[in-house]
Amino acid sequence: LGSSPLVVAMDGPSGTGKSSVSRRLAARLGARYLDTGAMYRVATLRVLRTGADLADPAAIAAVVKDLPLAIGTDPSRESIALDGEDVSAEIRGNAVTKAVSAVSAVPEVREQLVALQRELTAAAGRIVVEGRDIGTVVLTDADAKIYLTASAEARATRRNQQNIAEGRGDDYAAVLADVQRRDNLDSTRAVSPLRAAEDAVLVDTSDLSMDEVIDELYRVVAERISVG
Ligand code: DC
Repeated sequence: LGSSPLVVAMDGPSGTGKSSVSRRLAARLGARYLDTGAMYRVATLRVLRTGADLADPAAIAAVVKDLPLAIGTDPSRESIALDGEDVSAEIRGNAVTKAVSAVSAVPEVREQLVALQRELTAAAGRIVVEGRDIGTVVLTDADAKIYLTASAEARATRRNQQNIAEGRGDDYAAVLADVQRRDNLDSTRAVSPLRAAEDAVLVDTSDLSMDEVIDELYRVVAERISVG
């Protein structure tokens, strides 16, 4: 697919394999990769560390203003720092995962991070940008928009297996409940609710292997580009 500028927007709920898929698609396209969920997680970590009240949007906005966030876009190497400290592991922990919906619902937080996402995209030229509102809000004129879906059960199974593999315990029922809770929060919030863009291509990953998903997405991107 050459090396000309190319912007791919990847949206969908958690547990669809979206992050691994986006990273690998980026590598295959010779593109950069931006994990916007990680940015909301860093903002959330900052809020938790300062002890701001999660029920107070103004307090959250004040803490996240001037967020000292540095995020790399190399698909083969995750790099994410808060005030110079590598926080790539901590932002995946339970405390952040629980609080991130509250922080990402604050309009000022979204405005600030969306501006940064647009800057990083423009600087990269060729990039796969992954999130919840990339095709609908952040990059509405992306060259290709993909919306990954999977059943709540398939997503909970994946998450639970990941938890087991990473030593965080085995509790499918709790994971399923959390998947449904987050879906509900993400799709009903007032600002940038999770939904597919009208011009997005829907791909259901419930019954597909990772390799099958990548092949399908590569086809979708190639087709979009040749159609112009
Ligand atoms: O993809 P993830 O689980 O790392 O995302 C963490 C949280 O951030 C999730 O609750 C949804 C939110 N998010 C968002 O609101 N907008 C984005 N573009 C990306 C993530």
